[in-house]
Amino acid sequence: MCGIVGYIGKQDVTEILLGGLEKLEYRGYDSAGIALFNEEGVHVYKDKGRIADLCKIVDFEVKATLGIGHTRWATHGGPGKTNSHPHQSSSGRFTIVHNGVIENEGMLREKYLKDYPFKSETDTEVIVALIEHFANENKADIDNVIRHVMELLHGSYALGILDANEPGVLYAAKNKSPMLIGLGDDFNMIGSDAMAMLQCTNQFLETEDGEFIRLTREGVTIYGMTGYVVEREPFTATLDASDIEKGIYPHYMLKEIDEQPSVIRRIVQEYIVNDEIVIEQDILDAVKESDRIYIIAAGTSMHAGYVGKQLFEQMAGIPTEVHISSEFVYSTPVVSKKPFFVFISQSGETADSRAVLVKIKKLNYRSLTITNAPGSTLSREADFTLLLHAGPEIAVASTKAYTAQIAVQALLAAKVSNEPGIDLARELAIVANAIEILTNKKELFDRVTKELLTHRNCFYIGRHMDYYVALEAALKLKEISYIQAEGFAAGELKHGTIALIEKGTPVIAIISQESINLNTRSNIKEVKARGAKACVISMKSISSSTDDIVIDDVHPLLTPLVTVVPTQLIAYYAALHRGFDIDKPRNLAKSVTVE
Ligand code: G6P
Repeated sequence: MCGIVGYIGKQDVTEILLGGLEKLEYRGYDSAGIALFNEEGVHVYKDKGRIADLCKIVDFEVKATLGIGHTRWATHGGPGKTNSHPHQSSSGRFTIVHNGVIENEGMLREKYLKDYPFKSETDTEVIVALIEHFANENKADIDNVIRHVMELLHGSYALGILDANEPGVLYAAKNKSPMLIGLGDDFNMIGSDAMAMLQCTNQFLETEDGEFIRLTREGVTIYGMTGYVVEREPFTATLDASDIEKGIYPHYMLKEIDEQPSVIRRIVQEYIVNDEIVIEQDILDAVKESDRIYIIAAGTSMHAGYVGKQLFEQMAGIPTEVHISSEFVYSTPVVSKKPFFVFISQSGETADSRAVLVKIKKLNYRSLTITNAPGSTLSREADFTLLLHAGPEIAVASTKAYTAQIAVQALLAAKVSNEPGIDLARELAIVANAIEILTNKKELFDRVTKELLTHRNCFYIGRHMDYYVALEAALKLKEISYIQAEGFAAGELKHGTIALIEKGTPVIAIISQESINLNTRSNIKEVKARGAKACVISMKSISSSTDDIVIDDVHPLLTPLVTVVPTQLIAYYAALHRGFDIDKPRNLAKSVTVE
């Protein structure tokens, strides 16, 4: 949630900050703002809305070579101008941008800031007020003041700080929220991720929790928690700036749906060498030594985890449970004697999942993160990582990350299986072809969606693997079209929820398995008899001539990889027909770094 960017160098900073913020908009887009620091002082421009709105109020005549920027997903206080970042201290000396949540802000206000003239409802203003409060006491050393404030803060933060008395310094601090440092000749930067800085550099330094950073045009000094200087090697990002452009596509989501066949093929290339699945032996040993897998995830990643449960149980015979991360932290179940934790997260930053990781690490349980983001918090903090190799996913609604998460779980399950197993190189190639055939039929999905989704609600139904896909299909539809959608176990519908079916209610059934074919078809008859408008998505070998969307056959354990694709396209067209912002749906953010 929230994105920050900062730059100190020689070039005009306005375009750099705005360009960086555009790349960070996936992290929140309730409001945006920048602060430009030049010889006249610090100029702040901020307001409710998107970066495009911010561009209309920025004075491009103001030239500066030091500045910070922010794009917000509101937590403390509404999305209006006053709560937008950057925030300034009451004297105007300090200016700050913040990503994260300060949990003890109430106590800090009470203890140190009783008479402080707060302007906003944000926790961020408490930080900048504290910096000013302690700077007034300890005039000499701002480094120590900021470090002292860091010690007082409980919660998460990535901070960019300007001090009007220090025109040559950009200060930064990090705890729990992600932050990278970008390195260049004659400039240095901070950003919530590499994409925000790729326009200027592909050389980065990671930052760790508790670190305080001093950036000047010429150099970067990182201080650890107790003030020692940290030496760290930079890394080169393999991301290409073109990976994060829309190209010919009207929306990132459509591009990312279309990329799925190439993502599956890339995963095969990365993980299968000479017909052998290649996964670090330590990971395989850890899985094999465990008596139960606990998959921890949120949202779409959790839905991929449900499919993973089937794969681990059916391919490898390992009992597997899937848990909502935000629930697991507080209602932790009794775990088995030798649990192995698998965190699935596109971003690798989801705070709810991280809270579980922190908890299970204290108990000395071993863990693996399956993520698209190398170097992300969950990746760094778990014992092992398997990467998705899906390329940057920019649309808030996740598509290619979901299919990649299933493919990587399938590879792991196959590798730890003692059985000869299925030939995944061949089967995933068949999957990639089947997806390609579907993505070439966009007019079909456009038409089906137009005819079908005429109501404010919709049901997806399915059994077994199809039920898990129904959950993801419904989430996708809700996220971007705002149609109230529910994914339901087809057999359970008649036990209450069928009461909601009335004339014209859209019900989309997914049928991918021979074993449940007839049962799900009976459930379709039941809803049709009550007036529902039904649509059937089925696999070729078990299809009927009246089915609406028929998919080429793939291995029965891999059907979620293909059955989800029509549902992604249905969600896309539903949002398109309703005229909504497909890549940035209301109220959401892609990387949810608050609990
Ligand atoms: C947010 C996103 C979802 C995503 C979920 C988990 O809610 O909007 O698309 O599935 O977070 O994110 P993760 O990065 O952990 O997969």
